[in-house]
Amino acid sequence: MNSSSDVLVIGGGAMGLATAIELTRQGAKVTVLSRNFQEAALHAAAGMLAPQAEGLEPGPMLDLCLRSRDLYPDWTSQLTELTGLETGYWPCGILAPTFADSPPRFTGDAEWCDRTTIRQYQPDLSPEIVGGWWFPQDAQVNNQQLAQVLLQAARQLGVTLEEGVNVTGFETKDHQVQQVHTTLGTRQAPTYLLATGSWSQELLPIPVTPRKGQLFAVQPPRQLLNKVLFGPGTYIVPRQKGRIVVGATSEDVGFAAYNTPGGIQSLLAKAIRLYPPLADYPLEVCWWGFRPATPDELPILGPSPYDNLILATGHYRNGILLTPITARLITDLIMTGQVDPCLTHFSWQRFAPSASSTERLALTH
Ligand code: GLY
Repeated sequence: MNSSSDVLVIGGGAMGLATAIELTRQGAKVTVLSRNFQEAALHAAAGMLAPQAEGLEPGPMLDLCLRSRDLYPDWTSQLTELTGLETGYWPCGILAPTFADSPPRFTGDAEWCDRTTIRQYQPDLSPEIVGGWWFPQDAQVNNQQLAQVLLQAARQLGVTLEEGVNVTGFETKDHQVQQVHTTLGTRQAPTYLLATGSWSQELLPIPVTPRKGQLFAVQPPRQLLNKVLFGPGTYIVPRQKGRIVVGATSEDVGFAAYNTPGGIQSLLAKAIRLYPPLADYPLEVCWWGFRPATPDELPILGPSPYDNLILATGHYRNGILLTPITARLITDLIMTGQVDPCLTHFSWQRFAPSASSTERLALTH
């Protein structure tokens, strides 16, 4: 039993940890329950902070992503100040080369580069590249370093981290969650945050499903690239110490684990077509993960049908980018009851428009 926490966070990924940290900084006592920290999409991502390169249409989602990108410099430096660990935040910009057959994209505030100019930005691109967009404000963070920093920050601030705990259901009464059942017994708190990403449907009937991404990394002997390359069906993300991360497939295959020859083959072909020198460097490692996708590809944030249950899930392709703004908005909501106006666009109710009662969204018991 744990009834001494003010907030019980279910899920130890980016949203769960970052929000636990923010809540603790504002004076709350927080426990995070995690089945397996390593499963989180946080570890699998490439770490692009790319609201513009991702081609998000103008609207609430782009606005949210831009707000979060703006938070990144201060958010990461505060984490580094606290822990002494680097996050690899790098405002390196993103170059989006286009082939003659590339689909048109929304670009927002960006610079068009012609065939010659783009090669001044990045030599050795494919001869097929006819030009491209330069997004100087897009950036990256080393998500694997960020994962370690978030864990360390949470520990240092006194967040209670319970690893290896599987939440199996909620017990509810009168529009309130009374307690959660776990494989290690029950847990209670006045407020609960559901941040279980791709696994959210195990606890709540909201439409979040896994979308698998496969990635690989090569290790060139020197720093080959100093900006992210974002091409059709692939992106190439250079880390500051030389490693290059290449992502990602997008596969609707449930929780089918492992890299597959087909997935890696298609990724290799797209990445080498974009930037041929990649073909010559040691292939270091391949991995995969599951993006939490919703039908409209927007996250589910804010209140739930239960007064003391808050939702932060379904961040799909933009989880790393949206981590700081999610932590901030959800913390404000929990600590002050303040609902940022943008949260109305990300409510769970868009998937249950006629739902007015908890019966419509019955929790697993
Ligand atoms: N943010 C890129 C991806 O999800 O593949």
